[in-house]
Amino acid sequence: MGGDGSDPGFGEDEFLAHRQAEIEAAAAALRAGRLIILPTETVYGLGADAADPAAVAAIFAAKGRPRFNPLIAHVSSLEAAQAIAVLDDRALALARAFWPGPLTLVAPIRDPAAVCDLARAGLDTVAVRVPGHPLSRAVLAAFGGAVVAPSANRSGRPSPTTHADAVDETGAFAALALDGGACAVGLESTVVAVLDGPPRLLRPGAVTRAQLEAVVGPLAEAADDAKRSPGRLALHYAPDAPVRLEASGPEAGEAFLAFGPAPEGAKVFQLSRTGDLVEAAANLFSLLRAADRTKPTAIAVAPIPDVGLGEAINDRLRRAAGFVG
Ligand code: TXA
Ligand code: MG
Repeated sequence: MGGDGSDPGFGEDEFLAHRQAEIEAAAAALRAGRLIILPTETVYGLGADAADPAAVAAIFAAKGRPRFNPLIAHVSSLEAAQAIAVLDDRALALARAFWPGPLTLVAPIRDPAAVCDLARAGLDTVAVRVPGHPLSRAVLAAFGGAVVAPSANRSGRPSPTTHADAVDETGAFAALALDGGACAVGLESTVVAVLDGPPRLLRPGAVTRAQLEAVVGPLAEAADDAKRSPGRLALHYAPDAPVRLEASGPEAGEAFLAFGPAPEGAKVFQLSRTGDLVEAAANLFSLLRAADRTKPTAIAVAPIPDVGLGEAINDRLRRAAGFVG
């Protein structure tokens, strides 16, 4: 697209110039810790500042009956992606071939503060992509940081591919909803993990296996890989210490994750002193890690009410305790 006068409609630059006020408003909303509806070429996303745990918790709350799955960090350029993730030669080759576009790379985290623990579900890897839609890239460039954005639907419903559908689903939770037209791809991005061993296809999408293999050679089968090395594909942070749920307090040697009023202690970590579930969600993974670092005999966790974000917190705690695979 260009402004050479031959294009009867708006070229990309004119299109963006026309929408500068909206782009600035979206960046300001993100800086203020609010959510925005962000069009991408794949599906509409519900976006938040990736570095702000409270804003990320608000995404999970908005989706309803959520699980704390790790989210994709969207950035405006390859250089911005390299600042937050460690992209090796294979990841770089894939990025150069398919970005901007519908490919997400899972790679080791370089800057853990740029994409908070909750957004990564406590993992030391991060999913990154540079979206193809010019409006989303303009918002990301204006904002400057990474924006995590799952699809903008309520949990268990189809991903929205039009502005109207996105607004219907989660518009009530967003400070603003940018209209980027109908999504050109209409299907979520392809997710490829580039860690040790051959790259692995974690989620098929618009960039096909054949296209990926033309750039990096044969992909590992996720299933084979899981057999060879159980747990390596785990999408859940698991503390080293065992986790004891529904605890009224710590026993000798235990760390304690408190929720609501609790006595202070060297190994006591407050999820939320006031019993606020959004605050508890925002603190969950970083406090699990902090508790684990004290090398306790176990991590005891206070009961968390099973309502709202409490459902996702309890789901994650049950996984940490080994009750769910
Ligand atoms: O097209 C898309 O990717 C859309 C638009 C909005 O960009 N976003 C999207 O996000 O589909 P979501 O949250 O629905 O999907 C994220 C996917 C999940 O399959 C998740 O498990 C995977 O990425 N993922 C994220 N971080 C990961 C990590 N550290 N390791 C493995 N998988 C990860
Ligand atoms: Mg989704």
